[in-house]
Amino acid sequence: FGPRPLAGKRVLLTSGPTHEPIDPVRYIANRSSGAQGSALGRALADLGAEVVFVTGPADVAPPGGVEVIAVETAQEMKDAVEAALPVDAAVFAAAVADWRVASASGRKLKKVAGKMPILEFAENPDILAHVAQMEAGRPGLVVGFAAETDDVIENATAKRERKGCDWIVANDVSPETGIMGGSENAVVLISDAGTETWARMSKDDVAAQLAQRIADALA
Ligand code: C5P
Repeated sequence: FGPRPLAGKRVLLTSGPTHEPIDPVRYIANRSSGAQGSALGRALADLGAEVVFVTGPADVAPPGGVEVIAVETAQEMKDAVEAALPVDAAVFAAAVADWRVASASGRKLKKVAGKMPILEFAENPDILAHVAQMEAGRPGLVVGFAAETDDVIENATAKRERKGCDWIVANDVSPETGIMGGSENAVVLISDAGTETWARMSKDDVAAQLAQRIADALA
């Protein structure tokens, strides 16, 4: 039902957190629920897109009508993203861990009284920057998200340039906003055309409007 302006378009979407193992039973994670990503996947599918939904271990279930590829780590997410290309548009809503434990243990670390483990970290690949800067086969539209707690617009504008993506969807995830893990979002869309501040609305409504904008851009 309704218009399907994304029919015939293949859209890649990352969503959720990543989990980076410390040992077989422990991991490092973040508070991303996957709610905005799942809502966006549903909205894109509703407009007729063929959606490849690459998701970390999220709290919110993936939407129906999309191809779900479940991953745990940033490296697995990068591999899944590369395998999904080429696409018409790629949207990176996942909260990818910036760091992984440099040498995760294959065996459970034993508790030794009075002796604490010291974890060393290694930098994870930046999946968005990698895809946005591809020389061959870059998606026609590359969209990143920026979760910030301070100077949202300045930081997100700089992030857009640094990563080389077309749009950044920025939001303020300070705890007092209730956005991270909540059902509402207040976003700023940053593109070549400038900065648009959207009213606070449900994550479903943000998803529907963003999906429509993506359809307009691909038309
Ligand atoms: O640098 P930062 O994590 O704030 O950038 C956020 C944006 O970059 C999001 O779109 C996120 O999905 C993407 N990202 C990524 N791979 C990373 C880190 C972030 O794709 N390793």
